[in-house]
Order: sequence, then C-alpha cells, then structure tokens
Amino acid sequence: MNWFSEFAGRIEHDVPLSPLTWFKLGGCARHVYRPAEEEQLARMVGRAHGDDIPTRVLGAGANVLIRDDGVDGVVVRLDDAVFQKVEYQGERVIAAGGADLMRLTRECARRGLAGLECMAGIPGTVGGAIRMNAGGKHGAIVETVSSARLLTPEGDVEVLRVEQLGFGYRRSAVGPRIVLSAELQLRQDDPRRVLARYEDIWERKKTSQPFGENSAGCVFKNPPGESAGRLIDEAGMKGESIGGARVSREHANFIVTRKGATADDVLRLMDRIRQTVRRQSGIELELEIDIW
Ligand code: EPU
Repeated sequence: MNWFSEFAGRIEHDVPLSPLTWFKLGGCARHVYRPAEEEQLARMVGRAHGDDIPTRVLGAGANVLIRDDGVDGVVVRLDDAVFQKVEYQGERVIAAGGADLMRLTRECARRGLAGLECMAGIPGTVGGAIRMNAGGKHGAIVETVSSARLLTPEGDVEVLRVEQLGFGYRRSAVGPRIVLSAELQLRQDDPRRVLARYEDIWERKKTSQPFGENSAGCVFKNPPGESAGRLIDEAGMKGESIGGARVSREHANFIVTRKGATADDVLRLMDRIRQTVRRQSGIELELEIDIW
C-alpha cells in the first residue's frame, strides 16, 4: 500500500498479532506501523484520521483479546527506544508511553521510589496502564500520575494534568488519544522498605493467580462492592471450558487458553460466564479487557 510511502518508520502488512498478545490468540493486523519519532507518529495518525483509517496502539498485549478475523487499519507499535525511554529526575519520573510497566515498577522499587510498588506484577506498557488506570487491590497508577502528554487523533500534542485525565476504576478519559508519556510523582524512601513491599505484593499475586498459562489477567471488572472472581467462583464455573479456553482454577476471573484455542472460544466462554453469573446473582459483569 503506497499510502504509507510518505511516512518514515517501519511498516509491515498482514502481520499475525497472536504472538504479540498474552492470550496468544487472534488474527492479523492489516498494517503494523513502528515509528521511530513522535513526529512520524503524529503525521501518520493525522493522515489516517483524515482518511478514515482506524488506528490503534498495541502495547504489551496484556489486556486485549484480538478476534480471529484480525483487525483492519493500522496497528501502531511503540517499541522504538524513543517510546520506551524513562527519565529519573529525583522523585519525578517521566516515562514514555511504550515503556514496560513491570520493568518500571521494579526499577522504581529498587531505587527506593515509593508509590508504584502497588503495581508489582502488573504487565503492560505505561500508555496502556494510563489509559485504563491499571491497578489492583493495593492501588492504581492514578495515585502517582501528575500529568500525561497525549497525541490527539488529529496529530496534535496535548498535556493534561491528572484531574483532567478523568481517572476512575479501570478507566480514564484518554479515549482515542495515544499516550506519548506520563509524568509520575513518587516519594523517596528506603529502598529496602519499598522493595520489601514490592516483593510482598508480587508474592501474593503469584499465589492467587495463574502463572505460566496464557491469559489476559482479569477478564471482568469488579462490580461495585463485589468481586468478579468470587461471583464466578460461587457460580461454580472454575474449570469450565469451551474449546481451548477454560476458567482458571486458581482465580475464576481469569480465562486461560491452551494451544489450539481460538478467540471465539474465549468470547463464547465470556458469554457463558456472564449469563451464569447474571442468572445466579442478578449482577451484570462488565468486561475489563479490550476486544479488538
Ligand atoms: N475470590 C474467590 N474465588 C476466586 C477469586 C477470588 O472467591 O476464584 C475471592 C478472593 O478470595 C477474595 C476476593 O474474591 O476474597 C477478591 O479476589 P482477589 O483478592 O484475587 O482480588 P480481585 O479483586 O479479584 C484485583 C484485580 C486484579 C489484581 C488483584 C490484586 C480487578 C478486576 N482485579 O483482583 O487485577 O491483580 O486485585 O491486586 O480489579 C487485572 O486487572 O487484570 C487483575 C488481575
């Protein structure tokens, strides 16, 4: 497609996305674009918007299910060093949107920078974490964010302060904008203390969630005052499977997949979980993961 010829950066066509996701499922992207500079990305995004070509960013693929027939338009990968840069300025950290969240969390703990250790073991990129206010029961990224630089669909850069970012439980107002970077405000503490808290949270996660199996973390949001995992468990659904997709026996809000599974198996199992929980408890579960 020569539409791309005017943009610098790497472009590939008909790229299988499954290896780029934690579920290891789903079809191809029509185009994958890897910019090497923010300006290149801004130009491409602006043009795609003008020409009605959908653009989405695939981060670490930790919270997304890609349908078997794949996605049209352009999938952006921010894996160039420019988009993964992290600057440590005392208690302030400026992390680019493509930076790896687990690495950042660990490094902050190692430096005794407190505030992010509640995110121990949560996979993703900084951009993905901001977009969905990633977190768990020990805290969420919102607690450390002071501002974020966003790229609008028109290709303009905006800086929004935390109160303008519309953070809530697993949501933000980022919408169709791309997170270029985030400024985090942490507190200098004793590295041993921060690392100990980090390790403690990591350990708890390892003992209560499935590891070494393909999954995209929690599938449903916790309904207000409830736990999706407990509701699914109480509905007797642990171990229930459709095709190659199964409700985890370790944590009922995880769907794990084995080789040969399809995205459709996961979608059907999600439907069955929703229906069963609705029937048993009257509660409507809402998806936490993105479906493309
Ligand atoms: N529970 C069950 N059965 C299960 C799973 C959980 O009875 O199969 C019960 C637990 O015993 C506990 C309660 O449900 O009493 C809550 O479970 P848990 O402590 O595991 O926390 P969660 O609310 O299910 C949240 C986040 C996780 C995060 C953990 C730990 C959501 C939807 N989930 O889980 O996030 O790792 O806290 O911080 O907010 C994710 O977002 O992908 C994710 C895994």
